[in-house]
Amino acid sequence: MKHEDIEKILAELAELKCKTGKDIEDARVRFLGKKGSVTALFDEFRTVDKELKKEFGRPLNELKQAVQAKIEELKGGVESDGASEGPGQDLSMPGDSFGLGSRHPVSIVRQEIVEIFRKFGYDVAEGPEVEDDYHVFEALNFPPNHPARDMQDTFFVSAGHPNPLLLRTHTSSVQVRSMESMKVPIRVICPGRVFRNEAISARAHCIFHQVEGLYIDENVTFADLKQAILLFAREMFGPETEIRMRPSYFPFTEPSAEVDVSCNICHGKGCNICKGTGWLEILGCGMVDPNVLEASGIDSKKYSGFAFGMGLERIAMLKWRVNDLRHYFENDMRFLKEFETSL
Ligand code: PHE
Repeated sequence: MKHEDIEKILAELAELKCKTGKDIEDARVRFLGKKGSVTALFDEFRTVDKELKKEFGRPLNELKQAVQAKIEELKGGVESDGASEGPGQDLSMPGDSFGLGSRHPVSIVRQEIVEIFRKFGYDVAEGPEVEDDYHVFEALNFPPNHPARDMQDTFFVSAGHPNPLLLRTHTSSVQVRSMESMKVPIRVICPGRVFRNEAISARAHCIFHQVEGLYIDENVTFADLKQAILLFAREMFGPETEIRMRPSYFPFTEPSAEVDVSCNICHGKGCNICKGTGWLEILGCGMVDPNVLEASGIDSKKYSGFAFGMGLERIAMLKWRVNDLRHYFENDMRFLKEFETSL
């Protein structure tokens, strides 16, 4: 260790000129960074013997303080004089604009459906995506050996438990939670994301979205269900829309039906969207099975109700004629931008 080393750095410091914040930072690193010249002297200092330590301790500390003071002084100079940042920092230049995002087609459809049912007096209810077997299956009258309870169809979070956790396969679980927590009359719609163990293709995905609805009161009949669905279909697809119901089966409704709406593309003449039939399937529905009401503590002799459920991607597909489900999940900007005007 030599005094010259310290003097050399002091001389360098005296000459130091910085124009921009980056120059100052570079200089700081050059002196005080991990591999900086001052740091190197301190490293060397640790290894020298006692005598030299006495001799160099103070000058070294003074050197470090001088470097720090100089850096602070230079910083003050740059801050007080914005123009010294150089031509890249013209503060009068207009900023870069951020393109405004657009709403996702599934969100647009969900909002439309929610607004229609809000007008009919329905409240929105939400529930957990990670649910238990009881709320997804048991309380909805699924028999113990129903295929939906198989690993093939349902994603289990914790298997081998009497009431395992799983990813909900439909938002009917929220209807169960509504029946448990609300007083009759109940009028709710339950929008949400659901999960099924399906191979991903143009027509199927392991994640999709539903809106399900539930109405329970005294004297609710199948005629009320038909009327609600017809009104909804006309609000959603246009005032000329007709509906058709076909018998179906769900464990939680009896009787059950699947609903088709008249194809508003060809108006019944037959096109490739409705596959020449003039009808498009949009939802499943039915009268709530008395077992389901009783399981949630509702007197099935006094009350009755209907439920329905639809897939949002399917409705969006019909609305915008997108023929591949995967587009909804890939978030390709070119696809999403198509919906910019729908904001
Ligand atoms: N939960 C059913 C499904 O996911 C849809 C449905 C809801 C059917 C309510 C009837 C009544 O397919």
